[in-house]
Amino acid sequence: MKINKLLVKTKNKNYSIFVGKDIANNLHGIFKRENINLNKCLIVVDKELPKNPCYKIINSIHSKQKKIIFFRSSEKNKNFSSVNKILDSLFRENFSREDCVIAIGGGITGDVVGFAASIYKRGIKFINIPTTLLAQVDSSVGGKTGVNNKYGKNLIGTFNQPDLVISEINFLKSLPKRELICGYAEILKHTIIANRRKFSFLEKNKNKILKLNSDIIQKAIVDSCIIKKKVIEKDERERNLRKVLNFGHTFAHSFEASLKYTKKLNHGEAVLMGMKCAIKFSQQIKCISKNDATRLIKHIDSLKTKNLKNFFKLKNIETLIKFMKNDKKNKSNKINLILLKRIGKPEINSNYSVSLIKKFLYNELN
Ligand SMILES: NC(=O)c1ccc[n+]([C@@H]2O[C@H](COP(=O)([O-])OP(=O)(O)OC[C@H]3O[C@@H](n4cnc5c(N)ncnc54)[C@H](O)[C@@H]3O)[C@@H](O)[C@H]2O)c1
Repeated sequence: MKINKLLVKTKNKNYSIFVGKDIANNLHGIFKRENINLNKCLIVVDKELPKNPCYKIINSIHSKQKKIIFFRSSEKNKNFSSVNKILDSLFRENFSREDCVIAIGGGITGDVVGFAASIYKRGIKFINIPTTLLAQVDSSVGGKTGVNNKYGKNLIGTFNQPDLVISEINFLKSLPKRELICGYAEILKHTIIANRRKFSFLEKNKNKILKLNSDIIQKAIVDSCIIKKKVIEKDERERNLRKVLNFGHTFAHSFEASLKYTKKLNHGEAVLMGMKCAIKFSQQIKCISKNDATRLIKHIDSLKTKNLKNFFKLKNIETLIKFMKNDKKNKSNKINLILLKRIGKPEINSNYSVSLIKKFLYNELN
């Protein structure tokens, strides 16, 4: 099957994203054509990855000096201590800025390694090889890197575009269904904010995507990357338009932080719950029509994933609000929410009073 190549053009850097199957066979040529110097590289690999296709990729990275370290991916390990371990490794081996760091793993691995790469000697080359659906359709594109702290999620980080992204579809075969649904959540997010017609495609093809039907999954990944690429090319630093990519995330991040990043609710599941809240809130304030809201909620519910009431009670509302207030998009003491006017048409700069959001959460949890 054909390998797709997308070119992302930002102010500071242009880079390619390759999406396809059996990319390992072509990796040497890709590195050459993309002018990646592999003299010396540090490869940070998610510990949980199945050996094959992981070693197929690692073995096709022809570097004179190749150091491999393993990372245990979890939101709790998405912290400074993990970043320091990577930095220590780079300093010990005296990496220069011309050498490179390669992440092979999901969104957490990519975010942590990308962050370390962006601050090591003010920036070393970074190649991302995303291995989850979520990372292939979303986190590997756009250059946001970072870690969590006790104040919230992804609050420390940089904008650092990678030098190359390689999305090998074979990695997805070993992903548990739960993780596939999390990736699907971000495909859905991109589609909902950008393209009504593509939402109909998802309505028809959701099951084929989740079953990894070859042509359909590749198309879904590429479509999702194209939507994100177009947004970040216009607004790399999230001054305005890029905020749309946070649709559902103000709620989602507060769910994750309130639960102290438990594995019982992972990021994609929180995003699905967060998008559902954002859609219902949009309907409550009469921003979106009942028809569109119902269609979207039916689609999210068909994924049979987690429910707000599984995790929270009325007494948790204050904590949820506290984390929503910490969101990076807020400028005043109101809470900024990305809402929907209709499928494919988001509403960006809307701020809502804490009391209105509290009332909404009260109705959802009562
Ligand atoms: N930088 C961005 O723009 C951006 C965008 C969206 C999400 N994110 C971040 O991404 C993170 C979530 O990413 P994720 O869902 O990929 O999490 P993850 O990296 O933790 O991966 C999920 C799980 O799948 C395992 N795994 C990874 N690849 C596998 C494979 N091929 N087969 C079997 N198991 C595999 C991992 O070990 C982990 O247990 C969150 O921290 C979120 O904040 C960042």
